[in-house]
Amino acid sequence: EKGGYDYFMHKEIHEQPKALRDTMTSRISSENDDIVLDQIKLGKDEMEKINKVYIVACGTAYHAGLIGKFAIEKYARIPVEAEIASEFRYRNPIVDEKTLLIVLSQSGETADTLAAMRLVRERGGRVMAITNVIGSTVSREADDVMYTWAGPEIAVASTKAYTTQLACMYMIAIHLGLLKETITKEYADRIRLALLKAPEEIEYVIKQEERIKEFAYKHFKVEDMFFLGRGLDNYVAMEGSLKMKEISYIHSEAYPAGELKHGTIALVVDDTVIIALCTQEELFEKMLSNIKEVKARGAYIMAIAQEKNKSIEREADEVFYIKDTEDDVASIATVVYLQILAYYLSVARGCDVDKPRNLAKSVTVE
Ligand code: M6R
Repeated sequence: EKGGYDYFMHKEIHEQPKALRDTMTSRISSENDDIVLDQIKLGKDEMEKINKVYIVACGTAYHAGLIGKFAIEKYARIPVEAEIASEFRYRNPIVDEKTLLIVLSQSGETADTLAAMRLVRERGGRVMAITNVIGSTVSREADDVMYTWAGPEIAVASTKAYTTQLACMYMIAIHLGLLKETITKEYADRIRLALLKAPEEIEYVIKQEERIKEFAYKHFKVEDMFFLGRGLDNYVAMEGSLKMKEISYIHSEAYPAGELKHGTIALVVDDTVIIALCTQEELFEKMLSNIKEVKARGAYIMAIAQEKNKSIEREADEVFYIKDTEDDVASIATVVYLQILAYYLSVARGCDVDKPRNLAKSVTVE
């Protein structure tokens, strides 16, 4: 059932190009500019009423929500808050009939996410769910449902659910932007076409697997690791750091690179391993100067950048490229490097990749 792979996580990483294609086909295509969001009934009139969007989820799904916040705010110009479900539900959030809640949940059964949904519905808000499991509680209780067609995800560490959630978030964001006429058709086309290329970009990353494996085996004794990024890369850094902790038990932290000077750089000493995400063209120069700062303290830097930004090689010790793309959707390919890195570090350290200690696939109790 693992299809020749040692672990489900490895298989699921490799399934991502297909999972993404399945999630996007029938919704968007390169031939026409329609966006068909199957069971989403939220139309122009309803959308006009909405003045606030919350995106609520746990763990990896929350990290996808952060990227969703970025995309919806950018394209649809509505204020969006992304929040962890177990925080949202206990803080008496401001919710009324003008509120749209988007929940993300692979399993559709996470207790805190469900509780957040019920709270919003009780207060008259509208709930849209992105889930991977047909017939799950989340899918039954939401007003609108959009499925990630990732197929069953068995490994505790989420991979293909996350990348397909990103695709859904982008499709929703473009759709809302077009409904509200807050993005131009040209820009929507650019992002849609870039999104459709994401499966190929993941295939390209997967081809670099041997090099990532080598990097992992070289560094498997590391005790701490830092993930740095700016903008969307900061959110991807959070996901990379969670994956690392979860399956390799290496202590790691994700940090917005601009915050280094406000504390964390005190921890950077000789040979501290830093994974620097530099895929955002607009923020590239800023990242380069952050890399210089940590390098001056002796850090060892693995960087990820778009192919066009070769100047990264002057600063980083090791560089992995993603294919050139729109900054907005670069996260989809970037995270795959981090999944593969966490995977090989977990294997190299002799951990049980698919069933990390103390964790369950879905958290149905508080
Ligand atoms: O089923 P859900 O998407 O609601 O699960 C949410 C989290 O429990 C889940 O993403 C968790 O963080 C993963 N194990 C991370 O890899």
